[in-house]
Amino acid sequence: MLERLNTTFRDSVLGGLSQHPKTLEPKWFYDAVGSALFDQICLLPEYYPTRTETAILRERADDIAEALGAGVVLYEPGAGSLSKARIVLEALEAPSRFVPTDISSTHLHEAAEDVREAFPDLAIEPIACDFTKHLAIPPSVEDDMPVTLFFPGSTIGNFEPGEAEALLRRFREESGAQHLLIGVDLVKDRNTLVAAYDDAAGVTAAFNLNLLERINRELGGDFVIEKFQHVALFNEEKSRIEMHLESLEDQEASIAGSSIQFTAGERLHTENSYKYSPDRFSTMAARAGWNESLVWTDDKNWFGVFLFTAAA
Ligand code: AVJ
Repeated sequence: MLERLNTTFRDSVLGGLSQHPKTLEPKWFYDAVGSALFDQICLLPEYYPTRTETAILRERADDIAEALGAGVVLYEPGAGSLSKARIVLEALEAPSRFVPTDISSTHLHEAAEDVREAFPDLAIEPIACDFTKHLAIPPSVEDDMPVTLFFPGSTIGNFEPGEAEALLRRFREESGAQHLLIGVDLVKDRNTLVAAYDDAAGVTAAFNLNLLERINRELGGDFVIEKFQHVALFNEEKSRIEMHLESLEDQEASIAGSSIQFTAGERLHTENSYKYSPDRFSTMAARAGWNESLVWTDDKNWFGVFLFTAAA
């Protein structure tokens, strides 16, 4: 399993670096170092999404629980720290299972252990899987159980709109879920958006540059980190934040024998983070077979928590 993941990582990196412009898939940010940096990002004063979404969930937990009903199986693809799921689990009436999945197995099992201590009576079944490929549904989840997919953090923003729609459709088909509870970052002024991805303390820069360090560590790369700089910009036409790593000079790097050339100023595209309007998001979800039941936002309309019901 580990070896397969490593091959996948190498193929994805070599494939992305042979494209024009060069790209890397954002899911590779989250090795142990990257996951820890992401946890730090969530605490930054500039990074509003986590605290805004958390506040919405806290404030609306009872409404959410009422809408979802009793005995829910909460299934969280790409779960990370699990702190948001805990807010929902606390409010739910007699949830029957919690199934967090993550691409990073170590991080997942540690986080699941903490939830186990807090909810000793709840069945928790962490599963290491890559939701961009498929959702692994454990056999203990039977057909007649009410499943809620919980997809917070605006992770959906990492996908091109067409891919996001396909992902939401596949989520519904593969899980048989009745409900989708999903957090989505909303369009707002450019300065607020850019600051969230280019913080003064440089944590997001370190998070972005860690991709190159991870390639060095795991794939025998020889990137000189100092020769790249973090770039975050808002592409208004596409309504997305883009992160890039910009080469500061003409240079060559190698990964396990393959050589990669960069010209000065060339950008390696590492992440998109799409920002939606509530209407645009609901319309997209409807095309994927999800009807909107409810949406909650904060006072400034910076972040939306949407509750969708699977179309019959
Ligand atoms: C986890 C994809 C939602 O796009 O805001 C944070 C990742 N990248 N800072 C986001 C991220 C840089 C984050 N998501």
